[in-house]
Amino acid sequence: MSSGPYLHGHHASVLRSHSWRTVDNSCPHLLPHLNNPSLRILDAGCGPGTISVDLAARIPLGSVLAIDPSVEVIEKARRHAEEKGVTNVRFEVGDIFNWNAIEGIEEGGFDIVHAHQVLQHLQDPLCAMKEMKKLTRKGGIVAVRDCDFSAMNHYPPHEGMSKWLDLYRSTAKSIKCDPDIGKRLHAIAMQAGFLRDDIDVSVSAWTFSTPAERAWWCGLWAERSTKSDYKARVLESGLGTEEDLEEIARTWREMEGKEDGWFAVINGEVVAHNRV
Ligand SMILES: C[S@@+](CC[C@H](N)C(=O)[O-])C[C@H]1O[C@@H](n2cnc3c(N)ncnc32)[C@H](O)[C@@H]1O
Repeated sequence: MSSGPYLHGHHASVLRSHSWRTVDNSCPHLLPHLNNPSLRILDAGCGPGTISVDLAARIPLGSVLAIDPSVEVIEKARRHAEEKGVTNVRFEVGDIFNWNAIEGIEEGGFDIVHAHQVLQHLQDPLCAMKEMKKLTRKGGIVAVRDCDFSAMNHYPPHEGMSKWLDLYRSTAKSIKCDPDIGKRLHAIAMQAGFLRDDIDVSVSAWTFSTPAERAWWCGLWAERSTKSDYKARVLESGLGTEEDLEEIARTWREMEGKEDGWFAVINGEVVAHNRV
């Protein structure tokens, strides 16, 4: 199994959203499991590494290995760790399906194997979950969190938002990814061999409503629609045109301007205990 194309790519508008992420705002399900300072954590699909560095800072006697197939984003993540002065995190270019190629990684070698907003971008998330389970020691956990695009919500109503959502979801599906995966992470864990009783399931949301939050969230989607790799994927798929994407960007700008604007991103979370 190899990695398919990553729908968004790593344009500045994409990295702006990933680099905002911290353990507090993106890993509430992990917090109860971080009380041992000597943990060994694998962060699979780490992107620009802000979560990985935050995790490492919380386990001063432990270590984080963070992997991502993108050379560019791994360089950025290394710079971020340097700027933060965090030294117990190692960033390597690597693929969860081909972890054997990464130095210092072995079966059962981690207490926590974590992937945030990654499974939705994989063509074979079940295979990825099985690999994550293999890498977790007995008694350790696999922790995943992904949003569910079918559960995205906003206010006030705007016809253009349905167009955005329909196009996004159909484009993700056209490259055989599941944009709605957040609701079935537990089912994937069960298929990967975890017992239902060993799987903790939760949901948490990101909300964007203040002027600054709206400017950030709407602005990045307006830019992503017209500048990132997502645009190229839409055009390649034939599901939308350049004009459609321009119109979607205008919709996002209009939503940004709505003083009573509100956006909710629902995230499914799973902590699967590796007992068998
Ligand atoms: C939405 S980003 C999430 C980044 C980071 N976890 C975060 O939440 O900020 C998804 C990341 O998964 C990476 N990715 C895609 N395929 C992968 C694979 N086969 N193995 C590991 N990472 C992969 C992409 O390069 C991208 O950086």
